[in-house]
Amino acid sequence: MIWFPYEQMKTMKKPWKILDAEGVYLYTEDQKLIDSVSSWWSVIHGYKHPELNEAIISQVKKFSHVMLGGLTHEPVEKLSDKLESWLPGDLDYCFFSDSGSVAVEVGLKMALQYYMNQGENQRTKILSLEHSYHGDTFKTMEAGDDEDYHFVLKAYGSNPHVIHIPTKIPALEEAFLKYHSELNCFLVEPLLQGAGGMRMYDVAFLRRARQLCDQYGVLLVFDEVATGFGRTGNRFVADLVLPDILILGKALTGGYMGHAVTVANRKVFEGFYNDNPEHALMHGPTFMGNALACSVALKSIEIFEKQDYMSKIHKIESITRREMEGFFDPRIQEIRIMGGCVCVEVKDASVLKGYQQFAYERGVFSRPFLNCLYAMVPYIIQEEELVKVLGTMKAWFGR
Ligand SMILES: Cc1ncc(COP(=O)(O)O)c(C=O)c1O
Repeated sequence: MIWFPYEQMKTMKKPWKILDAEGVYLYTEDQKLIDSVSSWWSVIHGYKHPELNEAIISQVKKFSHVMLGGLTHEPVEKLSDKLESWLPGDLDYCFFSDSGSVAVEVGLKMALQYYMNQGENQRTKILSLEHSYHGDTFKTMEAGDDEDYHFVLKAYGSNPHVIHIPTKIPALEEAFLKYHSELNCFLVEPLLQGAGGMRMYDVAFLRRARQLCDQYGVLLVFDEVATGFGRTGNRFVADLVLPDILILGKALTGGYMGHAVTVANRKVFEGFYNDNPEHALMHGPTFMGNALACSVALKSIEIFEKQDYMSKIHKIESITRREMEGFFDPRIQEIRIMGGCVCVEVKDASVLKGYQQFAYERGVFSRPFLNCLYAMVPYIIQEEELVKVLGTMKAWFGR
């Protein structure tokens, strides 16, 4: 029996069975649905993309996987070369893993050990944001701040190694003043906090964070598992403010399969690079650098560049702004739009009860959570399809 995610198995609604998927569409027995969730924000090119399919098929004919322990191969070498040249600044050192959560774990381990390698063992604390979400593994749950997901941590009491602050500059300055000598990193979902409620904040906060990290010698870590590859309207938020460690997942493979990467800058890499074996990064997921994942990721980046995906994303944003302009309902708290993300936050979560079925009947797959009715569509979506997704959201309030 399948144990489904985030569900009370006894009372959950029967999941819809997907029989086929192509472009932005999911096909069930009785419906053709626009996927407004992009399979948890990852399927940026849509489903059954011929070039992505071909990248996997041609690699599988050679081999699908060999471990990176003592071995290497062309797809992983090409992908790390590509990321090295494509990512901003000196974010050049790519540590691959199989999921976003693990990649965040790797980033946190890197930050901790970076200071331990220099004898600074007291830097055990992580600064992170209120309402942040960084994954469901234990350290990422601790670094995150979401009781809706991770109330199980209550069993341990409060965690002395993580400090959560709001996205306000005075709170940031205060935290640095108070904790800077104990901090190894400031971990953030930059500009857009996804699973914690599609919260959006200003780049000025990140610019100030960069200054404070420089002033106090603390590593700045961007978790761009959700925001990377254009979702905020920036290719990466790291293009605006340069972190020391950048974490990518989800859309890295165009949503084709689980893979992620933790990319360190030169300073971090050099903190490990010497003759002392104890200074090595002791981590190695079995499927890191999987050849199929690397092949499809390379092709995905090639398409993203060649077909000018940033202009597609800007178009999605401008259509969304146009369609949501002037839309209001007293049950709505706020409508937020950033790049390829729109969120209608309602005052009471019960307002969204029944929406998923309502959308299904109108040919849209949606999955509201908390107080959020949102869309993060595949970037290949056509204007009339996007208008349909947004129109369905609006129609719910007009019924
Ligand atoms: C910002 C962020 N970090 C990490 C993760 C975890 O990624 P994964 O589900 O691949 O483990 C997610 C997943 O939603 C995320 O949104």
